[in-house]
Amino acid sequence: MTRRKPIVGMSLKMYHNSLKKAADFAESINQLVGEEEEIEQFLFPGMGTLYPVSLKLKNSLIGFGSQNIAPAANGAYTGEFSIESLVDMGGSYVEIGHSERRSLFHESDEMIADKVQLTIENGLMPVLCIGEPKETTDFEWIKSFLENQLSMDLKNIAKEKLETVIIAYEPVWAIGAANAASAEHVAKIHTLIRESLSNLFGTETAEKIRIIYGGSVSKDNVSAIVSNENVDGVFVGRFGHDPKNYQAIVESVKTIKK
Ligand code: PGA
Repeated sequence: MTRRKPIVGMSLKMYHNSLKKAADFAESINQLVGEEEEIEQFLFPGMGTLYPVSLKLKNSLIGFGSQNIAPAANGAYTGEFSIESLVDMGGSYVEIGHSERRSLFHESDEMIADKVQLTIENGLMPVLCIGEPKETTDFEWIKSFLENQLSMDLKNIAKEKLETVIIAYEPVWAIGAANAASAEHVAKIHTLIRESLSNLFGTETAEKIRIIYGGSVSKDNVSAIVSNENVDGVFVGRFGHDPKNYQAIVESVKTIKK
């Protein structure tokens, strides 16, 4: 069986907005878990704080990236953020297609596909967010919804590049909620996502792609969530915005996945 390196990623969304607060946060997690080799980690700070955070994480094992990029590398895209700037800062990851981008900023799957392609062309890793909009136990429906998102969002990617894509399964109804989706739900859906990846791109490729779960992950629920073999890690939001909680999440994933 393919060994996939476990992941803990985190987004600060638009919460830590002063340059000092974001940089201090990056420094704290770097001190706590910045030498952790067994877990791949990355941080997506708010866009305006990316540069000071990049300086703090420059020599760290914790990677960083942007929460969005423009669908083109440069040009007449007023108000957008270019991947060229991210590359210049030393970033390695790009978050693409988060449900807040899809719903609040009307990002289409076509635009998301362009962003995934641009990220790969620049040698960075896309963290592609997918997820069903409503809570249901109709797993066939969820599977076809997610498979459709995967086929549209990854349509431009050559097979040999697909293993650099990280899929973040984020059921929209579990984002910003009191509780995460149940560990059973997450295990079931991650297994279905891997089946879909296998249908779309072949089993060998599907086995290499990391699938992480996001949506109200906390230090209390993370161990149960990552205990299934198809769950390769977590994508953390609010409940990791305290460095000690973030550290606890990283340590739990390490314990479960060792
Ligand atoms: P949350 O955010 O953990 O605060 O729900 C997760 C996400 O949106 O990625």
